[in-house]
Amino acid sequence: NKEVISYEDIKVFTTRSEQFHPLNWYKQMLLNEPISYNKSSKTWNAFRYDDVKRVLSDYEHFSSEGDRTTISVKFSEDNFNDSKVNFVTLDPPKNRRGRALLAAAFTPRSLANWEPRIHQVANNLLDQLGDEELIDVVDGISNPLLTIVMSDLLGLPSPDIALFKSWVDILFLPYKKENQEIINQRKNMAIREFFTYLLPIIMEKRKNPGVDIISDLIKAEVDGEKLTDQEIVEMTMAILGAGVETTSHMISTTFYSLLYDDAKLYSELRSNPDLIPAAVEEMLRYRFHMSRRDRTVKKDNNLLGVDLKKGDVIVAWMSAANMDQNMFSDPFTLNIHRPNNKKHLTFGNGPHFCLGAPLARLELKIILTNFLQRYSRIESVESFELEKNLTDSATGQSLTHLPLKAYK
Ligand code: HEM
Repeated sequence: NKEVISYEDIKVFTTRSEQFHPLNWYKQMLLNEPISYNKSSKTWNAFRYDDVKRVLSDYEHFSSEGDRTTISVKFSEDNFNDSKVNFVTLDPPKNRRGRALLAAAFTPRSLANWEPRIHQVANNLLDQLGDEELIDVVDGISNPLLTIVMSDLLGLPSPDIALFKSWVDILFLPYKKENQEIINQRKNMAIREFFTYLLPIIMEKRKNPGVDIISDLIKAEVDGEKLTDQEIVEMTMAILGAGVETTSHMISTTFYSLLYDDAKLYSELRSNPDLIPAAVEEMLRYRFHMSRRDRTVKKDNNLLGVDLKKGDVIVAWMSAANMDQNMFSDPFTLNIHRPNNKKHLTFGNGPHFCLGAPLARLELKIILTNFLQRYSRIESVESFELEKNLTDSATGQSLTHLPLKAYK
């Protein structure tokens, strides 16, 4: 079991809102301490674009296999090392087989098949909102969309969605220094319940495959090897762990941004929906602030201009790298027209690049497209106070509510 490096070991913010969008801190760090050692977390921290990219991708020097991690999402009980699913924490070439087995379910063909299904889920959800003017984005759109889409794509029975959501919530509980043990026990329990729930579904799909991710995982074969039932349960957990909260957070913050960063953007996108993909990329660059990853130094080196010793842990802050002016001009401004916004590091870089990136992009594009078609105008709600609508999450701060007024 890896030791978790919590956010507050590295940086404590005075308000939740500040942590939600820590641009000032990034600005300071990029300027004054772009690569620095933090005594309380006992980690190096890298903020510059080139350094972050190097740390993430140069697995000869920076390993995913260390004993400490910034990731607090758990998707297997503790005896996980021999599993083929353990590719997220293995360096090439050892990660290859597991990654290829999961990638078999994330092909362009799968994506083409998922698109109409996600459209339908998005449409049904927006239908349920009806003509209501006051919408809560988190409860009404982001959370249900992701739970329903993921259970649909995995091929789980829809009556179980509430159950499924309750397990996902537990998997994402953030760790703090003082509660690691208790949180771990709760996560293990949820994992056991999820396993008991999923096993009969997998056995049934072995007999009668459907058009879904679990059936694709059953069929997937690499170097003559297939996944066991146990490993399919773990893969499913990994997909949920990696794909549900991240994407729902992304949807909520995108709406936040449309309301509070640039009030003219909504009508610009409505009159020119071809700009939606560029808007999605810029939101990922500018507004997505849960993005940091750790690596362990594999051999002594001075690649980042400081002496890094074998065994040192280094945290790469992708969201800060996305604000590096050497890469993005006028980086602290939201600008969907910037030519290189797709160069953001929000999905990582190199051998562990996010397998779900095309799906996450598709989900955001579809919900925005459908929403923009229905509503001509949105407005913020005056009484909304950001500070009171944030909560600690596995990744930093996430919105608990985001009310908006929408007009047809
Ligand atoms: C890996 C971000 C959505 C599945 C990663 C990594 C990042 C990331 C930064 C790299 C980890 C590293 O280098 O150590 C995001 C963000 C998302 C998102 C920002 C949404 C906005 C998804 C979705 C799925 C997914 C929807 C699947 C349904 C994965 C998997 C990996 C991964 C399986 C591990 C890849 C590997 O280690 O080889 N993600 N992700 N992600 N992501 Fe995502």
